[in-house]
Parts: sequence; C-alpha cells; structure tokens
Amino acid sequence: MTDHKTDRKTEAKVEVKTAAEAKAAAKSAPPNPYDLKRAKVAVLGAGKMGGILLQAFLKQNILRPDQLVATVAHPDRALALSAQWGIEVTTDNLAAVRDANIILLGVKPFQVADLLATLRPALDPSRLLISFAASVRTSAIEEAAIPGSPKPIPVIRAMPNTPSMLGAGITALCSGSNVAPQQIQQATALFEAVGRTVIVDEKHMDAVTGLSASGPAFIYIILESLAEAGVKVGLPRDIATLLAAQTTLGSARMVLDTGYHPALLKDAVTTPAGCTIDGILELEEGGLRVTLIKAVMRAAQRAKELANG
Ligand SMILES: NC(=O)c1ccc[n+]([C@@H]2O[C@H](COP(=O)([O-])OP(=O)(O)OC[C@H]3O[C@@H](n4cnc5c(N)ncnc54)[C@H](OP(=O)(O)O)[C@@H]3O)[C@@H](O)[C@H]2O)c1
Repeated sequence: MTDHKTDRKTEAKVEVKTAAEAKAAAKSAPPNPYDLKRAKVAVLGAGKMGGILLQAFLKQNILRPDQLVATVAHPDRALALSAQWGIEVTTDNLAAVRDANIILLGVKPFQVADLLATLRPALDPSRLLISFAASVRTSAIEEAAIPGSPKPIPVIRAMPNTPSMLGAGITALCSGSNVAPQQIQQATALFEAVGRTVIVDEKHMDAVTGLSASGPAFIYIILESLAEAGVKVGLPRDIATLLAAQTTLGSARMVLDTGYHPALLKDAVTTPAGCTIDGILELEEGGLRVTLIKAVMRAAQRAKELANG
C-alpha cells in the first residue's frame, strides 16, 4: 500500500515537472508567424462582400476587433461602419496596411491596380495579399504590388459568392507564385467563416466565377420560375415560393450529403409513366440544360474579359 502511495507521489511530481517543462518550452519557442490569432488583418473595400467577411470573422471569433481594420471610399460610411462593427474603419488605405500581416482586397476589379500603387510603400513579401476581386490575376497583383521584384509578394485569389451572407457560401481559392502552404491554410480558415472552400488552379478561376459566383442569380431565376409555375397551377404565391425554395435547398443537400450523381437522384424521382417524366420532357424541349450550360459559359467568358480591362 505504502509503496503504491509513494509511487503515485513520484508520478505526480514527474507530471508537474513535465508540465512546467512544456510551459517553458512553449514560452521559449518562436511565435508561429501563421497564427491567425496573432495576425493583423486589413480589409480594403469593406462593401457588400468585404462586410460579409468582416462580420463573419468577428461573429465566429476567428479574429478579435483589435486585429481588424477596414477601409471604404466615403468618410461618412467609415464612421457609420466603425460604430456598427466596433472596429477601426478609415478611408486611408496606406495607414490601414502599415501594421497588417494579411491584406484583403475587396474593391472593384478595375480599382485594384490603383489601390496597390497607393499601398506600395508599405508592401513587402512578408505580407499576404488576398484578393477577392473578380478576374484580377495573381500575376497582375504581384506586379502591381511590388513591380519587378524577384521575390513576389504572396498573393491568394478568392472567389466567394453571396450565400456567404448566411454562412452557406462557397469560395474557390488559388495561389500566386510565392505562397506558403500555411498561408493557403490561413486563407482557407478565413473563408470557411462564410461557408465551404475549394482550392483550384488559377486557370479555373473564371469558370468558378461563371458557375458559383454568378450561379446564385441563375438559381434565383429558376426558383422564381418554379414559384410562378406554382401560382399558374393555383397555389398562393407565398406557399409556391416556400415549396420552390425548400425543394431547391433539399435537392442541393441530397447531392451534397449523399454524394450521388444528380442524374441518379433525378431517376429516383422519375417513376415510369408518372408526372415527373412529362415535366422533364418539357424541360428538354425548352432547352433548360443547354441554356444553363450557355449561361455559365457566357459568365465565365465575361470574367475573362473583365481581367483585360
Ligand atoms: N458581391 C458579390 O457577390 C461578389 C462575389 C465575389 C467577389 N466579389 C468581388 O468583391 C469586390 C467588391 O464587390 P462588392 O459587391 O462587395 O462591391 P461594393 O459593395 O461596391 O464594395 C466595394 C467597396 O469598396 C469601397 N471602395 C471603393 N473605392 C475604394 C478605395 N479607393 N479605397 C477603399 N475602399 C474603396 C467602397 O466604399 P464605399 O462603401 O464608401 O463606396 C465599397 O465599400 C469586387 O471586386 C467583386 O468582384 C463580389
């Protein structure tokens, strides 16, 4: 018995020593430069999308208010947003990035080059630039940020979509030529605040813009048309809209949660000689598939053109 007690005491002593050692080791270890909790983040162009992101970072405690600074174009809006969000909001982009490790670019695509020219005195390859401006290439951002530099500034492009407002967005991310894996992890952690993320090659970013960034508008038109159809066959509008929206949500969840191919799920709804196949016949005659494919192609093409000015 006594021996056993002594053993436990010794064990406890060993544990205390180990914990103290661990604490000391943690204290002496160099700070992790990619730790988001230590980062200073500037969101330049805190409009619709920038505002959605900022509020999600704060709400989900990904960043504290003292880690964030934002900019907008109009001083009165800066004042109002500062009061609303409880963070520093200014119109001075250069001042906003002076202490920032991570800089999010949320102005319109045509404004990105000018904004980067303004920031140049404060930019160096120790900062991470994350642009969510549609179409603007990482190479163009690298060159506009530090022209002719043999070591480009790390640049990540992100393409979120508006369901981000509810945390139901999807963001595609791609890296420029000088991005560390930890930096793509940082960007992923930031954009996961507003939904899912996927990493793609930059060559796919215009396609992403045409599909998931423009896509919500296409889905709203489908949804609105389904609701109109409900009204046409006699349903009250509010019920028709609810039926259409929940059907869209449920169908999307079936694809995501089961992992089944959409065609397989469609076949499961379509009983031989039933109602659905008659509806499908109309859809095919009306060219819904081809129309949607062309809509995404056109939007992706337009995204390519935007990059060229
Ligand atoms: N909305 C989307 O669905 C979506 C999706 C993916 C990507 N994006 C991209 O997100 C970017 C912004 O789009 P948005 O829809 O959020 O537009 P937005 O609401 O018009 O936001 C733009 C913001 O930029 C600010 N701004 C303009 N010039 C500035 C300057 N020189 N310095 C600092 N701030 C400045 C504006 O300030 P004021 O408020 O004072 O005018 C505004 O707050 C675009 O590049 C777009 O391609 C948008």
